Amino acid sequence: MNTGYECFQNKKILITGDTGFKGSWLAYWLHHLGAVVYGFALPPEREYDHYAASGLEKLIHHTDGDIREFSQIRDFMEKIQPEFVFHLAAQPLVRKSYNEPKLTFDTNVGGTVNILEAVRLTLSVKVLIAVTSDKCYKNKEWCWGYRENDELGGKDPYSASKATAELVYSAYQDSFFNARQQFGAASVRAGNVIGGGDWSTDRIVPDCIRALQNNKPIELRNPHATRPWQHVLEPLSGYLLLASCMYENPKKFQGSYNFGPESREMHTVHDVAKELISFWGVGEIKITKRDTDHPEAGLLHLNCDKAHHFLGWYPKWGFEKTVEQTANWYKSVKGGERAESVTRKQIIEYMES
Ligand SMILES: NC(=O)c1ccc[n+]([C@@H]2O[C@H](COP(=O)([O-])OP(=O)(O)OC[C@H]3O[C@@H](n4cnc5c(N)ncnc54)[C@H](O)[C@@H]3O)[C@@H](O)[C@H]2O)c1
Repeated sequence: MNTGYECFQNKKILITGDTGFKGSWLAYWLHHLGAVVYGFALPPEREYDHYAASGLEKLIHHTDGDIREFSQIRDFMEKIQPEFVFHLAAQPLVRKSYNEPKLTFDTNVGGTVNILEAVRLTLSVKVLIAVTSDKCYKNKEWCWGYRENDELGGKDPYSASKATAELVYSAYQDSFFNARQQFGAASVRAGNVIGGGDWSTDRIVPDCIRALQNNKPIELRNPHATRPWQHVLEPLSGYLLLASCMYENPKKFQGSYNFGPESREMHTVHDVAKELISFWGVGEIKITKRDTDHPEAGLLHLNCDKAHHFLGWYPKWGFEKTVEQTANWYKSVKGGERAESVTRKQIIEYMES
């Protein structure tokens, strides 16, 4: 099976959002594959975030910067001359987007414009992966998976910002990137990812782990919401495979792709909490009052036929394994194992599975 992993050896790769949850796992993985990794992001929010805990600052070339400032990202790209750009920096939280809509649009839309414009002006770049979200689709709360050519939309500021980022990508693709030789760009849409080292607020796994570590009940506001949960390594494997395919044959593979779990792996928030407790060994769940001021979509899932068919990409870890790996990461680190070593072991296990 083509994994594309060997493509990244000694390549200069820029990751925006490397201090965040997904970006830090991607940076660690690319470093493990022999890439020369550069990161551009705001500083990590917490000293125990995955970026800091996994010792990334010693392994990659990180620069603190703000994607809302065009000159900063333009100058950085000009200086390092990357061949690959993975754009992950964003304000990624739905609830925060209700409280800070302008920040969300400035970062997710304005920031994406700045990244794509900098890529347009930096001719060393051969491959661009722009990360948006499954929430870019107009959510009709139906049982069918969304396909890449379904309607975009979003009722809350976060979803709308990601749908708009998709339009920005599409305009750059049609207006500039299609005509650029030896260059491929793609937008990628994944669902709710879980895994070790995420300590964000208002996310199910960090909320559960905080409760379990403090011997408190896990409070669930929206227990029946169904999400396409997947381990963080799953969509990242899709991004890596797509990037390697575009490096070889950009015009054949460019475009938009969904990377989600099998539809039978759709589970509720309650299922995640229950499964985490079973791997943690102890814990309880308390259902609290539903937040009606900040409604969240109940049902959303992705159709990934395009990634299966064109890339041969399939998820490897089912729901149980995903939650097990996630719980193990937090348990091992709490038990004294170095985060860096747990992350490395999980990446190797994923690559070998
Ligand atoms: N985590 C998920 O379940 C999920 C699901 C779908 C899509 N996504 C998308 O994946 C990407 C990464 O998400 P994550 O979960 O790792 O988020 P995260 O909050 O853990 O990380 C966000 C990163 O963006 C950086 N950032 C934010 N504002 C910035 C700015 N103005 N300038 C520079 N850097 C800035 C942060 O410093 C951090 O490195 C985002 O684009 C997000 O929308 C995440």
